[in-house]
Amino acid sequence: MSGSRVVAFGGYQPDKVVTNDDLAKIVDTTDEWIRSRVGIESRRIAADDETVADMATAAGGKALAASGLPPSGIDLVIVATCSPEVPLPNVAATVAHRLGIAAPGAYDLNAACAGFCYALGTASDAVRAGSARNVLVVGAEKMSSWMDWTDRSTCIIFADGAGAAVVGPAGDGEPSGIGPVVWGSAGDLAEKITVTGRNGAITQEGQAVFRWATTALHPVALEACARAGVTPADISAFIPHQANLRIIEAIARRLGIPRERLADDIVHAGNTSSASIPLALSRMAEQGRLQPGTPALLLGFGAGLSYAAQVITLP
Ligand code: COA
Repeated sequence: MSGSRVVAFGGYQPDKVVTNDDLAKIVDTTDEWIRSRVGIESRRIAADDETVADMATAAGGKALAASGLPPSGIDLVIVATCSPEVPLPNVAATVAHRLGIAAPGAYDLNAACAGFCYALGTASDAVRAGSARNVLVVGAEKMSSWMDWTDRSTCIIFADGAGAAVVGPAGDGEPSGIGPVVWGSAGDLAEKITVTGRNGAITQEGQAVFRWATTALHPVALEACARAGVTPADISAFIPHQANLRIIEAIARRLGIPRERLADDIVHAGNTSSASIPLALSRMAEQGRLQPGTPALLLGFGAGLSYAAQVITLP
């Protein structure tokens, strides 16, 4: 099999900034509580008429432009999302059409907050197996439309946005730039994060999720490193799902990865589920915090409970 690599990425956030003080006007909370327990200072919330497909198209368009490929170079579009407005049509075909990508394979994938890493893994496999040349992978979420704005344990956490990556073949003779995905699930804990019913809202058992995330995931990250032939000391950037700053700082500590290599986009983006990893990558690239050609560790986790990790070579 030939190798695959991440060619480029891009991110999109809605315009509307919602601060902790804004939330304190609608639920019984404080800026200090949210900062100290979750690490979020502000988040972005989509306009009422802004859809998951709108955000996915914006992020996908940026990644495509950064890749230098024409739309005709893409033959598969995967959108990871758990918050589409409707189950049909899928988001991916609409995104492809809007970006001028003619007749690609197009499907949505739901692995909640682990969705981007699942999509990246399947995109990499498709390129390596020869069933696609270049793949547009998007994580896009409008979590705000599935939130109970009177529930202070969830409305302070989740947010909206999209991020995307273009996956293509590795150069001739070059090693694969996307390591094997290590993925799994804990369906026995499925009830810990749910949306109940068609008109329901996200509910979670915060402490149980916190405990699971801080104890079960660092071995997954270590295995992803081992399968890519690197150690945590080699990792130049660690981009876990931006769930909660305390959770991801704890995982980084367990891996021995220094704080300055940890993505902390959650501070101003909130928890954007499957969008959070490519959004954080885009932000770190803008800030000059990524070193091209070096290994970065991605770790997605969330409802399901599902998780996935892989090491990529930064474009
Ligand atoms: N502001 C103020 N107080 C709040 C609050 C808020 N936004 N949310 C909850 N509280 C209160 C609770 O009602 C409780 O009050 P009580 O002691 O009077 O009953 C108290 O704070 C402690 O609640 P608890 O649930 O134990 O808080 P916590 O320290 O576990 O923090 C979470 C709650 C949700 C922030 C935390 O559990 C968490 O982040 N878990 C992981 C969730 C996650 O990442 N989910 C996404 C996975 S992808």
